[in-house]
Amino acid sequence: MTQRILVLNGPNLNLLGTRQPEVYGSVTLEMVEQSCVAHGKTLGLDVSCLQSNHEGALIDAIHSAKGVHQGIVLNAGAYTHTSIALMDALISVEIPTVEVHLSNIHARESFRHVSFISKAAVGQICGFGAHGYILALEALVQHLKEA
Ligand code: DQA
Repeated sequence: MTQRILVLNGPNLNLLGTRQPEVYGSVTLEMVEQSCVAHGKTLGLDVSCLQSNHEGALIDAIHSAKGVHQGIVLNAGAYTHTSIALMDALISVEIPTVEVHLSNIHARESFRHVSFISKAAVGQICGFGAHGYILALEALVQHLKEA
């Protein structure tokens, strides 16, 4: 059966490509999403993508994923470090989630070292730029196989 995966991006990630390229790279969100869909196909996945700058919209998307998507790849942006609500949403729907960050958050400011998302995630991939999304899809496939 084809597994459906939601690639969810949070605040400011719509600006990828122009936002601090020295930190986040020059790849746009559209390119990231296209490569997730294309690479997903090679892994037998049906990938859909969504980005929002609004915490509530991200929570709604996580709730709506229940019964529809078998896995989530989530870059929650700055909400990673602040949002107990997003963490609770992930815990509530019980959908295996891989956390992604383009930058290595552990090598940056100390406020970025804390992730509420990690408490609800299978694992975290950070520091590999846009390739992290591909690594996350591969990790998710393996995790779902083992589950
Ligand atoms: C980010 C890291 C966060 O600390 C930051 O707020 C972002 C992007 C990353 O992908 O490296 O918006 O999640």
